[in-house]
Amino acid sequence: DKFSQVIHALPMLSLGNVFSENELLDFNQRIIKTLEKSNINNSQVAYCAEPKLDGLAVSIRYEQGQLVQAATRGDGSTGEDITANIKTIQSIPLALRGKEFPEVLEVRGEVVMPRDGFKRYNQWALEHNEKVFANPRNGAAGSLRQLDSRKTARRPLAFYAYSVGLVEPGHQHQRHSDVLAWLKGLGLPVNHLTEVVCGVIECQKYYQKVGQLRDDLNFDIDGVVYKVDDLNMQEILGFVTKAPRWATAHKFPAEEATTLIENIEVQVGRTGSITPVARLKPVSVGGVTVTNATLHNEDEIRRKDVRTGDTVFVRRAGDVIPEVVKVVASKRPNNSKPFQMPRQCPVCQSELHKIAGEAVLRCPAGLTCDAQLKESIKHFASRKGMD
Ligand code: IVH
Repeated sequence: DKFSQVIHALPMLSLGNVFSENELLDFNQRIIKTLEKSNINNSQVAYCAEPKLDGLAVSIRYEQGQLVQAATRGDGSTGEDITANIKTIQSIPLALRGKEFPEVLEVRGEVVMPRDGFKRYNQWALEHNEKVFANPRNGAAGSLRQLDSRKTARRPLAFYAYSVGLVEPGHQHQRHSDVLAWLKGLGLPVNHLTEVVCGVIECQKYYQKVGQLRDDLNFDIDGVVYKVDDLNMQEILGFVTKAPRWATAHKFPAEEATTLIENIEVQVGRTGSITPVARLKPVSVGGVTVTNATLHNEDEIRRKDVRTGDTVFVRRAGDVIPEVVKVVASKRPNNSKPFQMPRQCPVCQSELHKIAGEAVLRCPAGLTCDAQLKESIKHFASRKGMD
């Protein structure tokens, strides 16, 4: 009924953050200064630049080329044994490719739920009265936390390797980018946006380039990561408490903003599912104007206690439907009342049904309900339906 614990052979570290160009310049200067003290004079440090993937960090252990164990990061020194779940992810090899691999290889990386899979899964979940995920990160985390790995197997998950833990006997690579190329050769997925950049100006350019690509990617990222590419330099730079001095995350501005809920309406889906939607005072979130946000279902509204007139945080990630994250309690008007779901279908006035244990209210009228009829025709004529 629970996962067993795994003690990481080498701790899984976290990353420091920079949020501005100035903080990035400071990070780079600190590195140049520290290297100077070791008589390394390098004004243009080479960095391996990578997307900062928004999923769940895992460590996967191969012995004699076979996947033997996989664990979550946990607190960095102890994680949970999720081997059975990790084995269901198709892009993670059960055996390393080729014949030349170390006796022990711990691969570290991020498990993510791709955005297309996330949307498809939530659609399915809605239709089958299963829990929908608020965002792809929760999707990845929730799927790996499944005690029944047959369920994990049905979730759309992907993995990208970004470093190694214990390697025995040690490898001979000089650079982090060489290690990633080596992992790729062994059959492990490495993110295609990974590249080596030289000096802080190229770091900035990389940040801007990836920022522009962000919305079109099939996975969520919340920034980019720069890692000193030279492993010898990494060794000299070392660590502060739990994060390396040789790497940092350059975060994108939050895709969250606050705005006012002007009204809460309900929508009728193709299968009669009733979804509450918040009509918002238009607000720009991560560069896109948002006027509607999904409230998922009655349980979600109750849990977050979202009401008309509330000031709320809204969040969007890529082209995923924006959602209300939470209410700013201090800004609630005095006369506000909890939201009540309607008893009748707003379109055909049929009495709404709720099957015990289900989160979703439904209109039972089927194709005699105009809303369901319209959605059914749209579905029938959609590319997927027609194909
Ligand atoms: S490297 C020693 N690289 O960020 C550095 N982490 O804030 C260890 N993450 O727990 C991490 N993308 O879950 C690294 N390209 C990337 C990453 C990445 C996402 C996550 C990871 C880690 C957290 C640290």
